[in-house]
Amino acid sequence: MAIKIKSDREIELLRESCALAAEVLQRAGELVKPGITTDEINTFVHDMTIKAGAIPSPLNYHGFPKSVCTSVNDVVCHGIPGNQVLKEGDIINIDVTCLLNGYHGDTSRTYAVGKVSKEARQLMDVTEKSMEDGIAAVTVGGYFGDIGEAIQELADEFGYGIVREFCGHGIGRGFHEDPMVLHYRSRNRGERIREGMVFTVEPMLNAGKPGIFVEKDGWTVRTKDGSLSAQYEHTVAITRNGPEVLTQID
Ligand code: MF3
Ligand code: CO
Ligand code: CO
Repeated sequence: MAIKIKSDREIELLRESCALAAEVLQRAGELVKPGITTDEINTFVHDMTIKAGAIPSPLNYHGFPKSVCTSVNDVVCHGIPGNQVLKEGDIINIDVTCLLNGYHGDTSRTYAVGKVSKEARQLMDVTEKSMEDGIAAVTVGGYFGDIGEAIQELADEFGYGIVREFCGHGIGRGFHEDPMVLHYRSRNRGERIREGMVFTVEPMLNAGKPGIFVEKDGWTVRTKDGSLSAQYEHTVAITRNGPEVLTQID
């Protein structure tokens, strides 16, 4: 229930799982091109994670059948890899989570398949910027609500719909821990951000309206209006030196 405060040692372990997740995501992203299937991305993520001595957190998580989420075009999140062949103009979010030494690291990006429309490129760029703005709003002693405030400020400028049903989350020994990190403006500012907290910021923006539905497979989330959706995700730790993005590749 309560937000778990992590020790320096625990943050060090989270640094490692997050670094692995970031590396796996980057390598998976390099595979994205017309003609590849989402199952091939899944196989790559699974094998690289296992070879590194880690476990892909999504596999069997509440029954999720694969090792990574692959969400194409109007799929908002939790897309299940399968025989879908990526084609020029698609956009695909790859969401990688690794369990290493007992701690999870969680990160995702949206990739263009070949050349994409101006509309798709703008949605991707603004969604990434909204994540960055959300992270930039993180301050020790500030409020979790500052994150959603910053994200909504930017999303509103472009008329993009912010998905409300899925949030960022605390992360550590648990894949999804408290608190829920809202990506939209709320009257309730939420809890204060303190040293030792580790959480994700992972806004999902729709080119159209914010509404979503879940397919009959129980996982695949799509926009109600069929519009494109993009998502970016980082794991952030509040260290003794302030906020640190653990899933950043430099
Ligand atoms: N990685 C997702 C997140 O950012 C959660 C995926 S749960 C799964 O929180 F079961 F679909 F893998
Ligand atoms: Co997450
Ligand atoms: Co994720």
